[in-house]
Amino acid sequence: MDKIVIEGGVPLRGTVQVSGAKNAALPIIASALLADGDHLVRNVPDLADVRTMGRLLGHMGCTFERSADHHAASIRVPADVRPEAPYELVKTMRASVVVLGPLLARWGRARVSLPGGCAIGARPIDLHLKGLEALGATIELAHGYVTATAPGGRLRGAVFTFDGQTVTGTENIMMAAALAEGRTVLRNCAREPEVVDLALALNRMGARIEGAGTDELRIDGVRALKPLDHTVIADRIEAGTFLVAGALPGCDVRVVGCVPGHLEALVEKLRAVGAAVTPVEGGLRVVGDGRPRPVQVRTSPHPGFPTDMQAQMMVPLCLADGSSTITETVFENRFMHVQELQRLGADIAIDGKTAVVRGVPRLSGAPVMASDLRASAALVLAGLAAEGTTEVFRVYHLDRGYERIEAKLAPLGARIRRDKA
Ligand code: EPZ
Repeated sequence: MDKIVIEGGVPLRGTVQVSGAKNAALPIIASALLADGDHLVRNVPDLADVRTMGRLLGHMGCTFERSADHHAASIRVPADVRPEAPYELVKTMRASVVVLGPLLARWGRARVSLPGGCAIGARPIDLHLKGLEALGATIELAHGYVTATAPGGRLRGAVFTFDGQTVTGTENIMMAAALAEGRTVLRNCAREPEVVDLALALNRMGARIEGAGTDELRIDGVRALKPLDHTVIADRIEAGTFLVAGALPGCDVRVVGCVPGHLEALVEKLRAVGAAVTPVEGGLRVVGDGRPRPVQVRTSPHPGFPTDMQAQMMVPLCLADGSSTITETVFENRFMHVQELQRLGADIAIDGKTAVVRGVPRLSGAPVMASDLRASAALVLAGLAAEGTTEVFRVYHLDRGYERIEAKLAPLGARIRRDKA
């Protein structure tokens, strides 16, 4: 196992390039199952989760090859596959659940391991299953697996309202409906940019999807789709993580290759803490000027403040000249980074869904433990701001969502390296 070692207190200056979006690449790669033939997905991030999705498609009988620079994926889907996702693979990546809709839509049957919970919450998939049942699927849960079948081999269009907004739930049902018979109307859909990018990819395959980016999707099912050739959008959460780094005192960072329109809620909060955020060629420039100001943050589905940026946003607030609150409304247990930030000297109290962050003049480096993907990113940011040495252990969490973060931060002046733990 690796660790990341940071000598903090050095202001970051320079330009950092954003990779393709993990949370768009994963469902888009899964959508290749909807059409046999040779697919090409470009601007794919070189991440552990992408490799896992590739292994999952390989298990089904597809081929999954990445280009020399690992940033494009060639996928060959045969006319028939083994429509199952085994526990050994699903347990390492919950997002594997997004193969359920495509498998069921294309082959009329699927057997997918229940993803189980993770550090940040129970993360059930009941909304996914209700959506598939609305499209006519029969669902059986046994021995830790979902077995889904479409009577007569094809799903039927329907009107369905999600009881709660779910990103991968919206993606799963949208993909299933793309090949269903007739029209499907989905309401209370997730509006995240990654959902929009998937809809764009599906329409390029010949699907007929309207309304992506709004809470109502209208999908007219077709008999067959053609192979994919799609370039994945930039990762707004990786971009946001670097923007937060640039908002730390004395920093001046250009984050390029990102889509400013995907980051509006975060940029508003960064400006509220006192950072100057301005558009530049290809992205955004952020300057952290002096001690951050306290703010109130409340996460909510897009276009609200992203839950995936909650841990990272806590770091500048730890150094603010006053008390801030961060309320996490999406997941039930997404404050694991708090106890680690406290080891670095942060003054944070948790009251239910809300963390009260009392700013302190400085953080001091210490060994800390990553617990989940975005918590580990927050610990890296805190290490950059802290005085002295911070060691972040269990960085395999970090590698699931960030492509060699130490190689991206070092050119900005960060004294950061990866070591064997
Ligand atoms: C996606 O997860 C992202 N992952 C998550 O990013 C992100 O945090 C989350 O959306 C919210 O934005 C991918 O896209 C691969 P949800 P997802 O279904 O789809 C509850 C990261 O850091 N719910 O929108 O699994 C659920 O428990 C990851 O990159 C049900 O109750 O999230 C949660 O409280 C972490 N039943 C809320 O809805 C369901 O059937 C939102 O979950 C589905 C969800």
